[in-house]
Amino acid sequence: MDEAVRKVISEYEPRLAAETALMQSIDASQMRARRDEFLLPIGPDTAQVLHTLIKSAKSRSILEVGTSYGYSTLWLADAARHTDGRVVSLELAPHKAQFARASLARAGVADRVDIQVGNALETLPRLAGPFDFVLLDLWKDLYVACLDLIYPKLAPGAFVVADNMTYPEVVRADAARYQRRIRQLEFDTVLLPIGSGIEVSRRR
Ligand SMILES: C[S@@+](CC[C@H](N)C(=O)[O-])C[C@H]1O[C@@H](n2cnc3c(N)ncnc32)[C@H](O)[C@@H]1O
Repeated sequence: MDEAVRKVISEYEPRLAAETALMQSIDASQMRARRDEFLLPIGPDTAQVLHTLIKSAKSRSILEVGTSYGYSTLWLADAARHTDGRVVSLELAPHKAQFARASLARAGVADRVDIQVGNALETLPRLAGPFDFVLLDLWKDLYVACLDLIYPKLAPGAFVVADNMTYPEVVRADAARYQRRIRQLEFDTVLLPIGSGIEVSRRR
C-alpha cells in the first residue's frame, strides 16, 4: 500500500476507537438516531480482503455504495492504483462526502475517485457500468434494491461484496434477505466470517 494512503487511513483509528467505545454505551434507538455521526467502517480485515481481491482480479471499474467518511474508499482507491482503475462511490450525506474527498486528496488518490452525493437508488440507474467490483455498504434495508439495480451492470466475473452479514445483530434480517436474493441470481457466493461478516459473490 502507498505510504501516503496508509498514513491517512491510520488517522481514522483514534476516532474509530472512541466511537466504538461510545457505541457500546448507547442503546439501539440512540444508535439509530446518531448513526450519521459515526464512521461505521468496514475495518482493516475486510478492507484487506477487498484490496487483495481487486488486485488479483485486476478489477478496474469499481463501485462503492455507501462512502461514509471515506475509510473504505481509501482502500479501494489504493487498490485501483494497482489496476489503473477508478472508483465511483455513492453517499447520501454531503458532509460525509466532503470529508471523504478531503481525505482522498491528502492521500494523493483523489483523481481515482468520483464521489456522487445523493440517494443511491436514484443514482444507480444513471450509472453506465459495466462494473468489475462492487462494495455494498449502505443502510442494510436497501441492499436488495441496490443489488437489483446493479445486477444488469455487472461485467462477467464481477465481484460483489456486501458487508454486515453477521454484525450488528439488529441488521440480521436485512442481511438474510440479501443472502436469499443473491442466491436467486447468477452468482457463485459464500459468506466469510471476516470483520462484520461479508458475502463475497462472483457473477457467473
Ligand atoms: C456503513 S456506512 C459506510 C461505511 C464505509 N463504506 C466505510 O467502510 O468507511 C453506510 C453509509 O451509507 C450511506 N447511505 C445510507 N443510505 C444511502 C442511500 N440511500 N444512498 C447513498 N448512501 C446511503 C450512509 O449515509 C452511510 O454513510
